[in-house]
Amino acid sequence: MSTPFAFRRRWRRTLPVVALVAAACGVGIAANLLQPAFAVVILLALVAGLAFLSSPPPAPAEAPPPAVVPTRPRVEPVASALVAALPEPALLLTPEGDILCANERVALAIGPARLGDPLSFLVRVPEVLEAVHNSARDGIPRRVEFGEKIPLDRWLEAHIVPLHLHGENGMASRGGRPGLPDTVLLTFRDLTQQRRVEQMRADFVANASHELRTPLASLSGFIETLLGPARNDTSARERFLGIMGAQARRMSRLIDDLLSLSRIELNAHMRPETQVEVGTIVGHVCETLSPLARDRGVELKLTRTDEPLPIYGDRDELIRLFENLVENALKYGASGARVEVTVGAEGAQDARTAVISVRDFGPGIPPEHLPRLTERFYRVDVVASRDQGGTGLGLAIVKHIVARHRGKLGIESPPGDGATFTVRIGCVSKAEKIAS
Ligand SMILES: Nc1ncnc2c1ncn2[C@@H]1O[C@H](COP(=O)(O)OP(=O)(O)O)[C@@H](O)[C@H]1O
Ligand SMILES: [Mg+2]
Repeated sequence: MSTPFAFRRRWRRTLPVVALVAAACGVGIAANLLQPAFAVVILLALVAGLAFLSSPPPAPAEAPPPAVVPTRPRVEPVASALVAALPEPALLLTPEGDILCANERVALAIGPARLGDPLSFLVRVPEVLEAVHNSARDGIPRRVEFGEKIPLDRWLEAHIVPLHLHGENGMASRGGRPGLPDTVLLTFRDLTQQRRVEQMRADFVANASHELRTPLASLSGFIETLLGPARNDTSARERFLGIMGAQARRMSRLIDDLLSLSRIELNAHMRPETQVEVGTIVGHVCETLSPLARDRGVELKLTRTDEPLPIYGDRDELIRLFENLVENALKYGASGARVEVTVGAEGAQDARTAVISVRDFGPGIPPEHLPRLTERFYRVDVVASRDQGGTGLGLAIVKHIVARHRGKLGIESPPGDGATFTVRIGCVSKAEKIAS
């Protein structure tokens, strides 16, 4: 802004120029070089020019008043920090259901949340939207469970909690009704895992009872027959008692398998602490099963490296693991007449991994069954498994024992080329050997 003081100062600076030009004109007139009238014109033009240059600059035009932008309701920094820290997907909403803030987990689990958007852009579950609307109106928290098929089959639970972030009268100060919530907290919990575990438990109980009920029904039937019509039939009694014995053994095998499965699961988090040599254990298993191989007309061949392969292992569990694999190969791959068991090692000298594979040359396993093969009671052919005295729990036990030994189980079955089950377990390192 130009003050009178600044104006005077500028004129003071221009006056010497005017005086100098006036003196030059005087000399010009005295020397008859300049007409007096012409000198006056020069002086006037000079004064006018200087007056224009030293005039205060025009005041800048007034800035237009800022446009009225609708302000988004404010979220307290503490509130958004708390939402960000929540371990589950969480959003703060206005009572009208617009998104005020959302934590990072929302983007991962639900989708990208844009601040200011209505919740319906993000969540398209009418029950959740309705619950948010109702909670904002009556201040009562709500819980909604819902299932989704896309992008994946999953179950979620939404918790809707109305809040008074601006105090009890916050709503009134924002033009709403006092006493009503000014914000709504919406959180999600993934129930898929829980539901799956519940389903698996229910399936397991149903399968186990079914497996036990079948031999039990057969036993009861034969007992009735032996007490009734076949009471005096000696040959029938012999035959029936033989079948009853087989059914009783099947029940006891099933109970054994169930018990070992639950025992292994119970200790799953504890890696065994004793050192065992895995090649010796596999050799022992092959020896024990050689009579079965002979019975089935199968050549059981073991190839073992000379290198000792010490691992941290539970001897009984490892015997059970390799017995299951070799027995399966002898039972289901008998038509190939050959089963090869190989014990070797791979990896660097100070980080060896024992690799044990059991290969048969039977019909193999169709690829669609491979992913479910280690599930409890899962069989490719139920009748064939029962005929072989199988319980459907063998590979589930194998999987759990391998996991407890921090190992890996691989199953390969190229069509028409038998099946290969490979177990990899890390060996005890030199440092561990010295430490122990
Ligand atoms: N080597 C194999 N060749 C073909 N099928 C196999 C082989 N090993 C396992 N299977 C299939 O996997 C199923 C599950 O095996 P397992 O869990 O050991 O149960 P079980 O032997 O008691 O039936 C078997 O019923 C069989 O159908
Ligand atoms: Mg088996």
